[in-house]
Amino acid sequence: MTIVGLGADHAGFPLKEDLKAWLIARGYDVVDLGTQSTESVDYPDYAAAVGSAVTTGKADCGVLVCGTGIGMAMAANKVSGVRAAACSDAYTARMSREHNDANILALGARITGRDAAIEILETWLEAEFAGGRHARRVDKIVELDRARGQETPDDPR
Ligand code: RB5
Repeated sequence: MTIVGLGADHAGFPLKEDLKAWLIARGYDVVDLGTQSTESVDYPDYAAAVGSAVTTGKADCGVLVCGTGIGMAMAANKVSGVRAAACSDAYTARMSREHNDANILALGARITGRDAAIEILETWLEAEFAGGRHARRVDKIVELDRARGQETPDDPR
């Protein structure tokens, strides 16, 4: 059985609850790592929690929801071993699994409504990594991830 790690910030909380109910109704096991209300929180905290759950095997894959999906994907991709994809349509969701072997789906509650989010999530969960030439490319992402640990450039902001 697939265990899905779930996380959201305040903007994503209501959609996370909808997705959680849908996942449970479909027979998925869910690990809900918060947040649990619309009180303002910082999305990187939840991206880190779900990223860690996925890379340590506590969850098989993850779903993160913020306002746009972008901040969640950016933050989750800083966790070594995470390949998070921010998707706002079913095609990119499917491609993120088949070609990129994404292990976290990031959704934007301010741009994607409940029904569309469920369609995207269902497509993403049912799609499988295609392997072949895509495996060589994903291996190169993994290499970049390994090399990243070795130097930390100054933030130019
Ligand atoms: C919160 O206002 C918003 O910035 C956050 O949910 C997300 O969209 C960031 O990427």
